[in-house]
Amino acid sequence: MAKVGVFFGTDTGNTRRIAKDITTALGSIAAKPVNVRNATVDDLLAYDTLILGVPTYGEGQLPGLSTGNATTSWEEFLPTLAGQDFSGKKVAIYGLGNQKSYPTEFVDAMFYLYEQFEQCGATLIGAWDTDGYNFKASKAVVDDRFVGLALDQENQKDLTPARLEAWLATLAPAWD
Ligand SMILES: Cc1cc2nc3c(=O)[nH]c(=O)nc-3n(C[C@H](O)[C@H](O)[C@H](O)COP(=O)(O)O)c2cc1C
Repeated sequence: MAKVGVFFGTDTGNTRRIAKDITTALGSIAAKPVNVRNATVDDLLAYDTLILGVPTYGEGQLPGLSTGNATTSWEEFLPTLAGQDFSGKKVAIYGLGNQKSYPTEFVDAMFYLYEQFEQCGATLIGAWDTDGYNFKASKAVVDDRFVGLALDQENQKDLTPARLEAWLATLAPAWD
């Protein structure tokens, strides 16, 4: 069975496209990406390593029905994790956002995944430098680094492939 599970939320498809790029890059060690609205907690617990994708909606919020997304998403899924045991699991987060339109809430939603999976006992991996981005504030910056990979398909799409490749290289010890 694949070692790495890739789960994402999305409204307009960017986070799904990145999930597919990730599984293409990882090859047979990664399972086919799954939209979190179709997933259960047990689906996530089936893997030792998880890569989780989340866009930010509203004003620095999780994607989901209350931020006007067409479907349920992380907003509805995260509460189902309360009290679950993810100890021994490694979790890496990537977040999509727009630093120009939302400079004070850039990729905030990553923080909410980080916080919940920490509470569940997971080991968070994949923190990422803030160099090269232009924003004023983000909840997703903890100890001067993003808690996961920040991607901006509206303003820095050209930088995404290299960022993704470098980030995946930092995660590789998790499954080697
Ligand atoms: C209504 C709306 C609100 C948004 N709010 C934020 C935000 O608060 N912070 C941010 O970084 N990006 C924000 N974004 C940008 C999205 O996160 C970005 O477009 C992302 O690529 C969408 O991902 P998706 O295509 O997977 O749904 C917002 C976009 C829309 C349309």
